[in-house]
Amino acid sequence: MAQPLKILYVTSELAPLVSTGGLAEVAAALPRALRALGHDVRVAMPCYRQIDAKFRGEQYCMVVADMGGNPVHGAMRVASVPDADIPLYLIEHDGYFGREAPYGVGAAEFEDNAERFCFFCQALFHGIPQTGWAPDIIHCNDWPGAPMAIYLKTRYRDDPVWGRVPCLFTIHNLAHQGRYSVSHFPVTGCDPALQTPECLLFDGDMNFMKGAVVLADTLSTVSPRYAKEIQSHEYGCGLDSVLNTRSGDLYGVLNGVDYDVWNPSTDPYIAGQFSVEAPEGKANCKASLQRVFGLPVRDVPLFGAVSRLYWQKGFDFMLDAMDRLTAHDAQFVVLGSGDPALEGQLKGVARSHAGQVGVFLGYDAALSHKVVAGSDFFIMPSRYEPCGLAQMYALAYGTVPVVRRTGGLADTVVDATPANLRRNRATGLSFVPKTSAALARAVDRAVALYAEPETMRQLRHAGMSRDFSWGRSCEAYEALYRKTLGRVL
Ligand code: ADP
Ligand code: GLC
Repeated sequence: MAQPLKILYVTSELAPLVSTGGLAEVAAALPRALRALGHDVRVAMPCYRQIDAKFRGEQYCMVVADMGGNPVHGAMRVASVPDADIPLYLIEHDGYFGREAPYGVGAAEFEDNAERFCFFCQALFHGIPQTGWAPDIIHCNDWPGAPMAIYLKTRYRDDPVWGRVPCLFTIHNLAHQGRYSVSHFPVTGCDPALQTPECLLFDGDMNFMKGAVVLADTLSTVSPRYAKEIQSHEYGCGLDSVLNTRSGDLYGVLNGVDYDVWNPSTDPYIAGQFSVEAPEGKANCKASLQRVFGLPVRDVPLFGAVSRLYWQKGFDFMLDAMDRLTAHDAQFVVLGSGDPALEGQLKGVARSHAGQVGVFLGYDAALSHKVVAGSDFFIMPSRYEPCGLAQMYALAYGTVPVVRRTGGLADTVVDATPANLRRNRATGLSFVPKTSAALARAVDRAVALYAEPETMRQLRHAGMSRDFSWGRSCEAYEALYRKTLGRVL
């Protein structure tokens, strides 16, 4: 292979240590896949209170960050990514990271998040050189990693260690931008010259996502379709024009699936293991899932969903369509947590449609495998979806996705139109309008398909045969890293 790369992967969550969404799964899988290709990848994350002591490694050195003329001290620990030969740098500061959650409690984020994640990034610039190692490239993710790009291109521009290190910034979710009142600016230690509408300012606020979009050498999103979408007014969350100016540097690389974890022929959580060649065990999974959710064990289409319950995910479309959905002789199970209003409404529907709708509120990894394995169809009516992982898991388990055609959902699910079925390309059902009626029509189509066992078999088979392994995405990242390096050589 070409020269291995030294990559610093900066993330604000990492499964199984701390996880609030898909980023944690990506941060666990991508560095492993890069390591398997021979690269020297190292991961960095804040040392949150939630991280189990057994994963925290040893304190390595003290670090200090300049938070607007005010030095703030912390420490850097060196641990390992669990079950991998990958160093993990953990930035420790009790005041910032010894809290009850990584980002905030309930809907409210901590009001000093700008300062917390700026400290995290600055501490890395101070701590990592003390190990004697320096990366060839920094890969930072989402707004908590954005200060890496911002400091790199200003404060560390002429630094002997960091001066020639380029940076790739990946957007996993453009809606979370790290937007704060300019009154926070002084404590971030950011160069005051950045406080302009061309750089960190957006509508009078400071905006970390925008800063990284302007300053990083290259940008990526987690699916090709989302890379295009976010350059439009509809999906751009206000940053579409600045993203347009970086169009030539913006790439889309689809996330992958960790098939060691999501494999129906080895999955320890499910009631009957199965595969594309021996699909019989799926029936046991369905019966077991019906029992777990208190539904009668019957041969009717079973629709499952596993999701964070927020506006992005479109569960209000499902709730609004509930009368029409439950008019079918079909069952629905939802595993999710999030917005208390959505949680309450889902519970209400489960009560009013007992025996037909089952809802489990909470985060439960084992149960998520059971839902993915036991359902016939998997619903994701997202308003937007940068990539989405669960629909790819569903495909691997012969569970036919019913998705809104956006972002990664559009890139991974092929609608069962007559033409796609004829060409044996179809893997699911998709719809475009952001309405409950469009979702209901897709569910009508799914129920009709369920009555055609041969078409269902074909769809399941096509889905299970798709390969979304990390190997392919990892090669795309490698190419992107080399392109990014080309910018500074
Ligand atoms: P996002 O990061 O926007 O939430 P993704 O689809 O990328 O969406 O990743 C979400 C991951 O979290 C998926 O693996 C999904 O199965 C899992 N997940 C979401 N909610 C739950 C839950 N309540 N219990 C278990 N797993 C969940
Ligand atoms: C974000 C997105 C999701 C994506 C995940 C991992 O949470 O909402 O679509 O799969 O990041 O990249």
